[in-house]
Amino acid sequence: MINIAIDGPVGAGKSSVARECAKRLGIIYVDTGAMYRACALFCLRNNVEIKPENEAAISELLNSRLNLEITLVDGVQHVIVNGEDVSDAIREHGVGMAASAVSALPEVRRFLLDKQRSIAAANSVIMDGRDIGTVILPNADIKIFITARPEVRAKRRYDELVAKGNNVTLGEILVDVNRRDYNDTHRKESPLVQAEDAILVDTSDLDFEQTVSGVTELIQQLGKM
Ligand code: DC
Repeated sequence: MINIAIDGPVGAGKSSVARECAKRLGIIYVDTGAMYRACALFCLRNNVEIKPENEAAISELLNSRLNLEITLVDGVQHVIVNGEDVSDAIREHGVGMAASAVSALPEVRRFLLDKQRSIAAANSVIMDGRDIGTVILPNADIKIFITARPEVRAKRRYDELVAKGNNVTLGEILVDVNRRDYNDTHRKESPLVQAEDAILVDTSDLDFEQTVSGVTELIQQLGKM
């Protein structure tokens, strides 16, 4: 059993890198951002405005009416909300912003904490998020903090959204990236911060393959895999 924690800001390439490394290492990839996105989507669909004043109502909604399942189909994570596969719906641009807001609520973080820990307790995983190395799996075998300059992250995010048919501008996305960085690093509960024992990987000047092979080798060396 091995638990690998990967954290970092939005658009650093964390998810795609972690997914590919997990595939090469033959272990499970868990995207915790998708779980926050699913909670946000559920609030939006139930017309509950995501704001601190509504924390109790949101907690009640999630605890009483949301059945959130993470399943793996051919090694690919699917997010199931009350029986419906929402894996695509949670990738919409608006859901990302809502996820940032919902993730600032301590009750929501508590709601997801046990789910995330129990997946890691039962499997060898690469788990990616914001607080995996600091809060969820403080005893992870390996911790990696993946980042890149904001402009580089905004451009990657922009390319991704445009490829999916979203009508956005690069300027808009850079504003969003900076706003989400601010939200994620300044919230009181589990802010995004590099764990003291995490290894920093800056992908600004690396392409996808360079990053994946570098991170995979790092894991193989440190984890003696
Ligand atoms: O990685 P992502 O963009 O899919 O994450 C969506 C939001 O969820 C992001 O704004 C930060 C938040 N998040 C978090 O607070 N903690 C995690 N472990 C994962 C994501």
